[in-house]
Amino acid sequence: MLTKPKSFSPYVPKPATLVGKSKLSDFVTLFTFAFDDGRILAHRPGQFIMLSIFGVGEAPFSVSSPPTKQSGNFELAVRRTGTLTEALHRLEVGAKVGVRGPYGSFFPIQKFVGQDTLFIAGGLGYIPLRSLLHYQLRHRDEFGRIVVLIGTRNPKERIFVDQLAEISARGDVEVLETVDQPDPAWTGNVGVITTLLPKVEMDPSQTYVAMVGPPIMYRFVISECRDMGIRGERIYVSLERKMKCGLGKCGHCQINGLSTCVDGPVFAYTDIETLEEAI
Ligand SMILES: Cc1cc2nc3c(=O)[nH]c(=O)nc-3n(C[C@H](O)[C@H](O)[C@H](O)COP(=O)(O)OP(=O)(O)OC[C@H]3O[C@@H](n4cnc5c(N)ncnc54)[C@H](O)[C@@H]3O)c2cc1C
Ligand code: FES
Repeated sequence: MLTKPKSFSPYVPKPATLVGKSKLSDFVTLFTFAFDDGRILAHRPGQFIMLSIFGVGEAPFSVSSPPTKQSGNFELAVRRTGTLTEALHRLEVGAKVGVRGPYGSFFPIQKFVGQDTLFIAGGLGYIPLRSLLHYQLRHRDEFGRIVVLIGTRNPKERIFVDQLAEISARGDVEVLETVDQPDPAWTGNVGVITTLLPKVEMDPSQTYVAMVGPPIMYRFVISECRDMGIRGERIYVSLERKMKCGLGKCGHCQINGLSTCVDGPVFAYTDIETLEEAI
């Protein structure tokens, strides 16, 4: 009698279906997936998955939805930039994909409990931070002040605009936005994200920073956070590098001795401040 092979390879993607698709900006779309066998992704905020588009390839994407126990659905927000992301944007609801993961380190939610959180998102950096923010909103009583700073190149590239307006209207979350280049309709702050920092007064002894954005942003923003009195071990950043395996095997994502895929992508600043290539 033939028996099912018991071997398990971490390289084998699990089949999933695209169950929802909505445009966030000219280049960024929100995709909702569900595993075909009903499993739950069981990720933690800051983690990523490897997404396979059959016949095209595989790429890493941060999970943008908060962890969930009830439904297996999870969300990715993806910018159309090249071969795989173009193919993803062409998929229609009902299409099949493959998913490996979740992988990597995550924001240490338990440390954030009872503390204030300063979110700092540069451009698409809001995508993984949204997972942590929405977790905190679902468990609002467990967290102190929540302040969200978002910097975008121009108003057309802003994402999750309606959702952020709703969050801002709750009254228990402060959301401040800025754009580098305004258009005639923009009435908000203009300038890089560091121009928002003087507008918020945080108690450094009870603030954790969760920051995701382009590498150039980190150096300046971390320096200002330190000037505000926030210690390095309270500053968490997520670092993106080119990834292939996601499992610490191939070496594509290394920063000095660290593998971004297993040691990161989320690091406490104190763990990477001495690594030359990190920031
Ligand atoms: C941990 C992690 C999480 C990520 N999360 C997201 C996310 O939530 N949303 C999102 O839109 N993108 C995310 N990315 C980037 C995403 O993986 C790349 O945009 C994607 O691999 C590009 O694939 P492509 O075949 O369409 O582009 P390609 O045809 O391979 O390249 C097009 C352009 O994208 C650049 N690129 C390719 N791969 C990467 C990469 N891994 N990182 C940065 N730039 C790359 C290339 O240098 C080139 O300029 C993440 C990357 C990592 C490492
Ligand atoms: S992606 Fe292969 S070691 Fe990190």
